[in-house]
Amino acid sequence: MAIVEVKDLGVEFIAKGTLKTAVAGASFLIEPGETFSLIGESGCGKSTILRVLAGLQRDWRGQVNLLGNAIAAGKRFQGTLRREVQMVFQDPYASLHPNHTIWRTLAEPLKIHGENPIEARVNDALTQVGLPSDAASRYPHQLSGGQRQRVAIARALLLRPRILLLDEPTSALDMSVQAEILNLLNRLKEQHKMTYLLVSHDADVIAHMSDRAAFMAAGAIQRTFDRAALVRGEHRLAAA
Ligand SMILES: Nc1ncnc2c1ncn2[C@@H]1O[C@H](COP(=O)(O)OP(=O)(O)O)[C@@H](O)[C@H]1O
Ligand SMILES: [Mg+2]
Repeated sequence: MAIVEVKDLGVEFIAKGTLKTAVAGASFLIEPGETFSLIGESGCGKSTILRVLAGLQRDWRGQVNLLGNAIAAGKRFQGTLRREVQMVFQDPYASLHPNHTIWRTLAEPLKIHGENPIEARVNDALTQVGLPSDAASRYPHQLSGGQRQRVAIARALLLRPRILLLDEPTSALDMSVQAEILNLLNRLKEQHKMTYLLVSHDADVIAHMSDRAAFMAAGAIQRTFDRAALVRGEHRLAAA
């Protein structure tokens, strides 16, 4: 059974008094253990889809099923779904609170969910993403861009999610650091048996990471590529 099922998803925004369609009938399935990617021009609706699946965008229509649970528009996620689906954003600087130490950033979700032991879990999360435990006492501005994205990944992993939503997770980083973070993500996926939904505008990243990819335009999926098509580079033409 698919771990993510999206059928006829629609999202609209009202911007400056006019109705704007961000997602227009997008449908796709993701199987457990897959890395499924979304590609397509800026503004075609990729991040909005991820925000719906993370429970951050609650105004939508269509059918969405996550981990066998039908989710309802307009409602907060309930129970285990709140931990089992986590998101990593493009810009780790914006997604980490500037005045909170890394310790506080990582301890907070554990406290909210009543999870223990906090200290061991935070240290374990830092180790898993390749950060020294003394990183906990630092503030985001005292870390490099790559280290900040490692913190954001550690935070996403703390609650042991089964689905990770990755919105351009490396596009704010230097090339050499990008590769390190992508390899880290692949290692963690293997280790924790997660399923990834990845957004990237970079055809190389898509080819390196994905089992399948979908090309989006105007809020809908136009075409999907299996692993063989990605290896042949067919997505490069569609995305060009
Ligand atoms: N909160 C919002 N309010 C108004 N318009 C939005 C909002 N979020 C996204 N949009 C619009 O919806 C469309 C899709 O945006 P987005 O999902 O961010 O695209 P992508 O991630 O593919 O670049 C864009 O035209 C964007 O301007
Ligand atoms: Mg986006």
